[in-house]
Amino acid sequence: MRLDRFLSGQTAYSRKELTAMIRSGAVTVGGEVIRKPDTQIYPEQTTVTLRGRQIAYAAHHYYLLHKPAGVITASRDPKQKTVLDLLKPQDRLQGLFPSGRLDIDTEGLLLITDDGALSHQMLSPKHHVAKYYLVRLAEPFQPAYTDMFRAGMMLREGDSEEACQPAECRAVSEHLAVLELHEGKYHQVKRMFAAAGNHVENLLRVGIGTLRLPPDLASGSYLNIFNKDVYSALKNSDISEVCAFCAEYYSSYWIKEWK
Ligand code: URA
Repeated sequence: MRLDRFLSGQTAYSRKELTAMIRSGAVTVGGEVIRKPDTQIYPEQTTVTLRGRQIAYAAHHYYLLHKPAGVITASRDPKQKTVLDLLKPQDRLQGLFPSGRLDIDTEGLLLITDDGALSHQMLSPKHHVAKYYLVRLAEPFQPAYTDMFRAGMMLREGDSEEACQPAECRAVSEHLAVLELHEGKYHQVKRMFAAAGNHVENLLRVGIGTLRLPPDLASGSYLNIFNKDVYSALKNSDISEVCAFCAEYYSSYWIKEWK
């Protein structure tokens, strides 16, 4: 791999800035100053430093963000704040994008990555990776929702109707429920509960596969996580376990708004 390409994948500097830094002698490879940007290197076998700081190599990057409300799920936007704006400048690497979409008012677990294959695997309905949402309902949860959602809801889309895949839903308390989805239609959670005669007041994504929204991760903050942890999370989980997790850590998440 070319030295300038390696550095542009691991740092937030532009190619132009990196070329200038390499030419100025700010970069070493295996302890030697290298001034040619097109020098071939083997990133897994050699140590690269930039201005004295070692640059670790990762083929892809993964940030687990606790998305706050009021921020849009996009890479950039001329007017509104995006989830990528929440990253520290040094973490805004080229090629990062949010994997999947949460509505502006939806909060919770969102992965930001530059790994297109992972994102496809996570989002494609074919791979059945479960997404778990904690929902605060305007009206009390009805036991009938379980069978309605399990049978596959029909959602109106203009003049036509679209069928949802069977979904699991469980109550956590009178107004809180967990919904498990394996697909991501537009406003799906809100539309499913609206079709069932209720209204979603708040929505928090608490899990993807076995990955959970860490209870100690403040809204708007994020963690750098590893490839192996993300890939190993892409498997089925158990909604009962997610309900217990929500009951323990998130049952009073919106409590300030109820007062
Ligand atoms: N379903 C919704 O209605 N909104 C989201 O943000 C995610 C799923």
